[in-house]
Amino acid sequence: MKNIKTSVYAGLKKKINDKSAVITVVGLGYVGLPIALEFTKRGFFVNGLDSNEGRISKLKQGVSYINDISSKTVSEVTKTRNFQVTSNEKVLSGSDVIIVCVPTPLRKVKEPDISFVVKASETLGRYLRKGQMIILESTTYPGTTREVILPLLEKNGLKLGADFYLAFSPERIDPGNPKYDFTNIPKLIGGFTKQGTTLGKLVYSKVVKKVIGLSTPESAEVTKLLENTFRIVNIGLINEFAELCHKLNIDVWEVIKAAETKPFGFMPFYPGPGIGGHCIPADPMYLSWKARKVGFTTKMIDLAAEVNRKVPVHIVKRIEEILKTRKKALENAKILLLGVTYKKDVNDLRESPALDILEILKQKKVCVNYFDPYIPHLDIGGIKEKGVELTENVLKDQDLVVVVTDHTNVDYKMIAENSRLIFDTRNVFGKRNIRDEKIIRL
Ligand SMILES: NC(=O)c1ccc[n+]([C@@H]2O[C@H](COP(=O)([O-])OP(=O)(O)OC[C@H]3O[C@@H](n4cnc5c(N)ncnc54)[C@H](O)[C@@H]3O)[C@@H](O)[C@H]2O)c1
Repeated sequence: MKNIKTSVYAGLKKKINDKSAVITVVGLGYVGLPIALEFTKRGFFVNGLDSNEGRISKLKQGVSYINDISSKTVSEVTKTRNFQVTSNEKVLSGSDVIIVCVPTPLRKVKEPDISFVVKASETLGRYLRKGQMIILESTTYPGTTREVILPLLEKNGLKLGADFYLAFSPERIDPGNPKYDFTNIPKLIGGFTKQGTTLGKLVYSKVVKKVIGLSTPESAEVTKLLENTFRIVNIGLINEFAELCHKLNIDVWEVIKAAETKPFGFMPFYPGPGIGGHCIPADPMYLSWKARKVGFTTKMIDLAAEVNRKVPVHIVKRIEEILKTRKKALENAKILLLGVTYKKDVNDLRESPALDILEILKQKKVCVNYFDPYIPHLDIGGIKEKGVELTENVLKDQDLVVVVTDHTNVDYKMIAENSRLIFDTRNVFGKRNIRDEKIIRL
């Protein structure tokens, strides 16, 4: 038995080291596509498996659907013939290392939806063979890898640690961040056995600068949730603090800048129009759900989520207040929202607070339009809108321009020169030293 175990481990180790291991990435989204491309660039043969035929067909044509990756990169990597994109799950049987990056959204009732992980694991279970290593990257609650995935894989009779390896490695990318991509963000991995963790570390060390092994998959799962809980709590704090500063007539941006001068014990977070994206609003809910299962209440997460959820409502109140100073009623105003994605320089609309702001304004029958360089048309959650062009005349025609997302590739000087009144929820003008009485900061 010991010999078989050793040979499975040694065989996989050798394949990873000499790059003959076939890597399959399941789920080619914001997380999976960069990983698949990087392993290909480093000399591995990679299968990119995705159930979305539209995405597969785009990749086959050398077209990228993710901002951080250019179509040029996709077509160059595809041309090497070491990257095969497909929706045919049969490629799993010929794979040595399988990295799973499927979505983990929230259900309507704000509870984890791990149906994509379950479905992918059932498929993996059908194709599992001796000598494979499976790594889950999708963010999830502690216990998912052990309680949900492992039983589905073991259904076919193979034994963990002897026949195959399983580990969890959280993805920590920050889309739109020009400084950090997944290759220079330290990678965490927690396997079930020492050998599993060692093999996982070896796999990622081929593409990532620093890999850190953890003792269990649960430690790796919950580390990711700690990171995003840290963010949701601090963002909630600063959003509440900004509202208080407004009531006290204090400039919150000046206060944050001043606090930042302390060389220790303070880390700046910035207020804004609300939280969005696939991670911050969702991941901490995975933890609070798991906590409830063990009879524990995560008061900090629940409170931060509530504070952050109310921010778009507060933004609309501020819009109303600002318009009042110009003797304009909200219902009669013409408003332009600048930016609708959940953060700057991405084309991702998931959970974007701009959608809440747009919806509240529409409910109040306000004449509201939007501009976003990345989103010419909005078609999400029942909202269907066409973006306007950002011209001098369009700006002059508005009672109020509201900066919701601070995209970099927008001419803020031109906006300042041609708008009558601006509400800046991101301090984008302040950061560019564009100051004017008509620019009101959050
Ligand atoms: N987007 C981020 O910035 C980010 C950062 C860190 C972690 N994460 C986590 O990574 C995971 C993936 O996120 P994402 O943003 O890449 O999602 P995404 O929706 O962009 O991509 C997921 C892909 O998986 C595919 N898919 C779903 N089920 C499949 C299956 N059974 N077989 C094959 N393909 C399947 C979908 O078609 C889609 O293309 C999530 O758990 C997310 O929380 C995301």
